[in-house]
Amino acid sequence: MLRIAVSSCYNCLGHLHAGPNEPYPGQQLTNPETAMPSAAPSALEFACRMPKAELHVHIEGTLEPQLAFALARRNGITLPYADEDALRAAYHFADLQSFLDLYYSCASVLRTADDFTDLMLAYLKRAKADQVVHTEIFFDPQTHTARGVPMGTVIEGLIAGIKEGRLRLGISAKLILCFLRHLSEGEAFDTLTEAEPFLDYIDGFGLDSSERGHPPKKFASVFEKCRALGKPVVAHAGEEGPPCYITEALDILKACRIDHGVRAVEDSALLERLVREQVPLTVCPLSNVRLCVYPDMRTHSLPQLLAAGAMVTINSDDPAYFGGYMNDNIRAVQAAFCLDEQTWRRVGRNSIEASWASTEEKAVWLAQLDPVG
Ligand code: HPA
Ligand code: ZN
Repeated sequence: MLRIAVSSCYNCLGHLHAGPNEPYPGQQLTNPETAMPSAAPSALEFACRMPKAELHVHIEGTLEPQLAFALARRNGITLPYADEDALRAAYHFADLQSFLDLYYSCASVLRTADDFTDLMLAYLKRAKADQVVHTEIFFDPQTHTARGVPMGTVIEGLIAGIKEGRLRLGISAKLILCFLRHLSEGEAFDTLTEAEPFLDYIDGFGLDSSERGHPPKKFASVFEKCRALGKPVVAHAGEEGPPCYITEALDILKACRIDHGVRAVEDSALLERLVREQVPLTVCPLSNVRLCVYPDMRTHSLPQLLAAGAMVTINSDDPAYFGGYMNDNIRAVQAAFCLDEQTWRRVGRNSIEASWASTEEKAVWLAQLDPVG
């Protein structure tokens, strides 16, 4: 069979380990008559329309400039930007830390339970529009409690949004409390103590913020306590940090998913392990490009992860800051790699299987993903 790569799909790339005219697994073949991707529109349409779960999104990262200024006005806060355009113009990040500085600064407009409810509902509406049927959402309580916003205000506001989202939109959502890794383990323990009255509303625990220099093992004891409370744990690892942070997150924190994990391709034994154990990776393509983990989408490790058989999911991370929500990520990946429908179905299945939804809910969504007939 003649296999031709299409230049607009940027897919005859040496770094993918395929020869210049050879596709990598999951890449669409092209029609030699038209030199167009033979099923490009349908694979993209399928991916956008398929039911899917989002497993890596920070609620504070869904704060759009318009809502940020509306909340600032409502709360009598002055943001250090003249207007929405000036804020948007600041969205040029050199690395994770330069983003986090802006992200924490904008979060200062969130003060009341209603603010958190409005933020949650705005995100759930966007997610629903992209056929996200279930979402597991990170929140960073330490960002808020440090400013004097009580833990109860944050959680009650977010849960009210989740309840309204389920009622009005039919979308299912869970909450993951993240500890900020640039702070100490002692501070994480204090946060866990503050959160204990609300444990019924917290579905799991995570680890985020500045990765370099803050290895997962720094949080071994607090994660042990989270697990003893009967909650699953996840951790950001292998985004900017080295592959050994992924190993630590698995072996020391006992993370059941790895958030990002894209640097696993640098360690073949680790990648083999992730594939063998089918550890879910919550990959966030637009985030990785915006934070300069990769210079552009074409150099992203996603095709290598897929080709190896890793359990990849696609997610938006901080969609208000990184240029888009779930389906924007899918479109950016498709423009770079021209994946076929079968691969997208696998990515969709992975997202549902890796979620903490009930077996019954998963069965419904998985059935909707399977080819008809
Ligand atoms: N990495 C680490 N911490 C974060 C991120 C991220 O991409 N987004 C929000 N907090
Ligand atoms: Zn993240």
